[in-house]
Amino acid sequence: MTSNPIPEGQRIRIALLGCGRISKNHFDAIARIPELELVSVCDSVSERAEQAGAANSVPWFTSYEQMLADVPSDAVVIATPSGLHPQHGIVAAKAGRHVISEKPMAISLAAADALVQACDDNHVHLFVVKQNRLNPPIVLLKRAIDNGRFGRIYMANCTVRWTRPQDYYDQAPWRGTWEFDGGAFMNQASHYVDLVQWLVGPVESVMAKTATMARRIEAEDSGVAVLKFRSGAIGTIEVTMLTFPKNLEGSITILGEKGTVKIGGTAVNKVEHWQFADYDDDDKLVEQSNTNPPSVYGFGHEGYYRNVVSVLRGQAKPDTDGRAGRKSLELILGIYESAKTGRDVPLPLRVNI
Ligand SMILES: NC(=O)c1ccc[n+]([C@@H]2O[C@H](COP(=O)([O-])OP(=O)(O)OC[C@H]3O[C@@H](n4cnc5c(N)ncnc54)[C@H](O)[C@@H]3O)[C@@H](O)[C@H]2O)c1
Repeated sequence: MTSNPIPEGQRIRIALLGCGRISKNHFDAIARIPELELVSVCDSVSERAEQAGAANSVPWFTSYEQMLADVPSDAVVIATPSGLHPQHGIVAAKAGRHVISEKPMAISLAAADALVQACDDNHVHLFVVKQNRLNPPIVLLKRAIDNGRFGRIYMANCTVRWTRPQDYYDQAPWRGTWEFDGGAFMNQASHYVDLVQWLVGPVESVMAKTATMARRIEAEDSGVAVLKFRSGAIGTIEVTMLTFPKNLEGSITILGEKGTVKIGGTAVNKVEHWQFADYDDDDKLVEQSNTNPPSVYGFGHEGYYRNVVSVLRGQAKPDTDGRAGRKSLELILGIYESAKTGRDVPLPLRVNI
């Protein structure tokens, strides 16, 4: 049971915590949706909070508790380092605010569960931002799978060949640490892990190898995972942040009995191959679904917020709530467990892993 819907005509007030790199995508998306209103921002670094406050003409804070106490809001966006999302989300939930958490929602299952529980207990929604699910080519692919166009799916592959130089990791001390971030699977490629389990899952077991070859970070800069799906299909995920000299590919490929699709580009933004045995009107939409986003973050935050609005008005279910966000986290933690132990790891995980 969540709190009462926010009536039509009443703008939905958003506060944002963590004015770093991704906050701009939130500010832009909120500004484009008239039903939303950014009401306050907070960052522990005062210059960042001040700059974001000035740029968006809203009050700014360096104390989260102060922001929640001083400025009424309906939802709080959590855009702080990943390992802090649960504790920051729980504070918002206890203050009666809906929670919009950047991905990943947490970096341990225990913390993810505590966040889900706090939102349930306080009757607020928990949204986990997975904007790549809303890329137009991915929407078409999901529909093709749901409509059974592939027949039996045999193979699924995700490939993330990106570049993150050392100075990217050096920008903030939390990056690449086990305590606050994780590596290429948990941070940069987490959308791709999410897509493969959402489109072809559930995953039955995973084997993985990871390596830290060229970046001075605790977690991995590269890795490969082999998946066995409950359906019998098998899959692979290949991830690296070491591609020379720039981002080369962010793709997903599905091979089935009656269809083959590859969505590629640098961030699943382009249909590279689309072929089915049987015609469907969706085939006519393939060409126009290609997008050319300015960064690998894509355009999806706006679409994500449109769902948030519908949910808070009581008109829709969340695109990705806490329980959906937890699934990809569980698979990533399974990948890490396999890389650590050298074993095939069955899912669901034992929660204390
Ligand atoms: N959806 C996406 O595609 C996408 C893309 C990039 C980042 N992200 C996620 O967004 C989150 C932030 O990433 P980023 O690249 O913007 O990081 P960042 O380091 O640029 O920004 C984080 C901000 O949080 C602030 N902060 C840290 N601790 C705080 C605290 N206790 N209270 C208030 N502010 C605090 C920092 O000062 C910083 O300004 C990460 O979880 C990341 O995984 C998602």
